[in-house]
Amino acid sequence: MKRVDDFRLRFGKQELVPIMIGGMGVDISTAELSLEAARLGGIGHISDAMLPTVSDRRYNTKYVKDKLKQYKFNVANSDKSVVQFDLGLIAEATATHVSRTMEAKRGDGLVFINCMEKLTMNSPRETLRVRLQAAMDNGIDGITLAAGLHLGSFALIEEHPRFRDVKLGIIVSSLRALQLFLKKSARTGRLPDYVVVEGPLAGGHLGFGLDWAQYDLATIVAEIAAWLKAEELDIPLIPAGGIFTGSDAVNFLEAGAAAVQVATRFTVTRECGLPEDVQQEYFKASEGDIEVNLISPTGYPMRMLINSPAIGNGIRPNCEAYGYLLDAKGSCQYIDAYNRAVAELPEGSKVKVMDKTCLCTHMRNFDLWTCGHYTYRLKDTSRKGEDGRYEILSAEHVFRDYQFSTDGKLALPA
Ligand SMILES: Cc1cc2nc3c(=O)[nH]c(=O)nc-3n(C[C@H](O)[C@H](O)[C@H](O)COP(=O)(O)O)c2cc1C
Repeated sequence: MKRVDDFRLRFGKQELVPIMIGGMGVDISTAELSLEAARLGGIGHISDAMLPTVSDRRYNTKYVKDKLKQYKFNVANSDKSVVQFDLGLIAEATATHVSRTMEAKRGDGLVFINCMEKLTMNSPRETLRVRLQAAMDNGIDGITLAAGLHLGSFALIEEHPRFRDVKLGIIVSSLRALQLFLKKSARTGRLPDYVVVEGPLAGGHLGFGLDWAQYDLATIVAEIAAWLKAEELDIPLIPAGGIFTGSDAVNFLEAGAAAVQVATRFTVTRECGLPEDVQQEYFKASEGDIEVNLISPTGYPMRMLINSPAIGNGIRPNCEAYGYLLDAKGSCQYIDAYNRAVAELPEGSKVKVMDKTCLCTHMRNFDLWTCGHYTYRLKDTSRKGEDGRYEILSAEHVFRDYQFSTDGKLALPA
């Protein structure tokens, strides 16, 4: 019976344990988590979501306070087009987080950065270019282009001296998305080094509609693999979404996948950025406590725990401090939803916004509990103490369980 450890992910001459921990913003996949994956010979991700606020929390900078001060005059205005990011400061925050993480890297694995292109930041192209360049300048091993895939991303960085040396990957949920990306970036003469195929059971935003349950990861991976073969394209495929045990991973590796990307099982580890009380909510969740809804202002469906404090919360849009989802015109769907709720508000009652959420604020505060479909199985991966709390795991324990387990078994902590 095979184990994940019987396989290797090959990038040229480099051989890695074929386990990639997926990016989880905002600082849920921390530097510490990504560094553990690299130390153990696999691949970890830091996230580039909202790095100025992450930097404030980690490195005592004051980016958010300064930005709010600069734009305070606009707080009550529903037109947020004046709120702009300073590109130099974005580069600086990215540089700090990436360089400090890379300096701390030990072992034979790699640390990548997950870059979500739907963080349009009032100026989609320029802010994305700066984020990508700063990560490359500061030694990142690879970049995974995620959610809201910008088809021209490779072209944005093709002049960078590390363009052909940094590992560049993309996340897609369909063959069509992959075909579009390859067509659009063909001019740069560079293929992605890997393609993460994310199925409908993943955490975070989904590349499917509310009919997600009709799709199946293995079927999508097989379709993409067959097309790549017919086109004589050799690109490693990395399935993601609902791969909960080492045996689940082996099934994909035996079918030809180069590695697997996993995330949910690491949400309950010490190295993960979620506060421990939130991790207990993940452990306690039952299947009925997890839903896919449309409250993300990005317009993409998102999976989350139904008791997330963010759901229904009607805080005033916080774009002067954050504003990561503002499009080039300065709009965000939450601003519209908030204004509608305020206009319809009965006298003296508290604002509730049910249809959208202020994603920046709530992800920043760990109040939107996004999670994978199998979060309800996390309780089977730990022990419950007499106080009713579950033992928080180490990332090493979970990583090794993926690497060595067989027969669908889940190892409990020692
Ligand atoms: C808490 C959480 C946050 C996530 N955030 C992101 C993100 O910021 N960007 C992204 O591309 N994927 C994100 N994902 C998706 C994961 O990187 C990964 O592809 C997927 O969840 C793997 O499936 P699994 O969780 O069933 O193992 C997130 C997943 C979780 C559980």
